[in-house]
Amino acid sequence: MNETDKIIEYLEKQIRNQEKLASLGMLSAGIMHEIQNPLNFVINFSKLSGKLLKDMEDVVLEVENSLPHDSREELNDILSDLKNNIAKIEENGNRVSNIIRGILLYSRGKDDYTPTDLKELVHEYIWLSYHAVRAGHKNFNVSIIEHYENDIPLLNLIPQDVSRAVLNIMNNACHAVFSRSKEASGTPYEPTIKVEIRKEAGKIKLVIEDNGTGISNEVSEKLYTPFFTTKPIGEGTGLGLSISKSIIEKKHNGTIEMETKVNEFTRFTISLPIS
Ligand SMILES: Nc1ncnc2c1ncn2[C@@H]1O[C@H](COP(=O)(O)OP(=O)(O)OP(=O)(O)O)[C@@H](O)[C@H]1O
Ligand SMILES: [Mg+2]
Repeated sequence: MNETDKIIEYLEKQIRNQEKLASLGMLSAGIMHEIQNPLNFVINFSKLSGKLLKDMEDVVLEVENSLPHDSREELNDILSDLKNNIAKIEENGNRVSNIIRGILLYSRGKDDYTPTDLKELVHEYIWLSYHAVRAGHKNFNVSIIEHYENDIPLLNLIPQDVSRAVLNIMNNACHAVFSRSKEASGTPYEPTIKVEIRKEAGKIKLVIEDNGTGISNEVSEKLYTPFFTTKPIGEGTGLGLSISKSIIEKKHNGTIEMETKVNEFTRFTISLPIS
């Protein structure tokens, strides 16, 4: 076999592997969809049962006095256990649901690279994240300072993927300033997130910096590990940064770096090649 044949054989093998990976991705997306439906039943019915239990509690409260003391106690114990159990079912159902959503988003879609205005994309998703966090926490607030250089060229990106990375990093920043504002109650603290896009050394840099909790060394080491999270059960899947990293590095030939100081700041810098 000559050199050319060898190369062709090698390339064919690569393509077969890529196809296998792609169909694996599609397969798992399909399975995840199938799991999500029965899971919705679990979550919705546990919610409903929680409400029914509350109604039952009211009824019990009304007739309580006519019951013998022992039965009353037993009934109340059972009710309280049932309430806890149902809350656990719902909480863990939501947890699985979040993981599935993460995997679905990851395995979804084709890789369509399009000339993209990064400033527009970043601006849109920064505010999307802000409003999403605010919708969940009414007393959340933060000053967002955007600074985008004027002559940023269009970049060849997969927009839905890069927007996902921006959303992840911005969500983390919002949570970090929110956590710190809760810890800092009493002392003056102005939650701030700075977002910057600039051209530097032939690359485009996107910087998202928050003055939130910062990240300890221990957490830094596991930052990009899939499913690593410090958030309470049900709140974070721990997939955010591992997915963001693979989007930036594997799909866009870029880099993602983090600098931090505990209780001062966290700065994520994404570098993307210009062409
Ligand atoms: N800006 C930040 N400030 C402080 N800690 C951060 C910041 N960004 C990430 N972290 C830490 O890194 C961990 C992992 O982040 P990652 O985005 O991968 O997962 P998550 O945010 O916990 O969950 P998910 O992104 O799925 O909601 C977080 O739980 C948090 O402890
Ligand atoms: Mg996250």
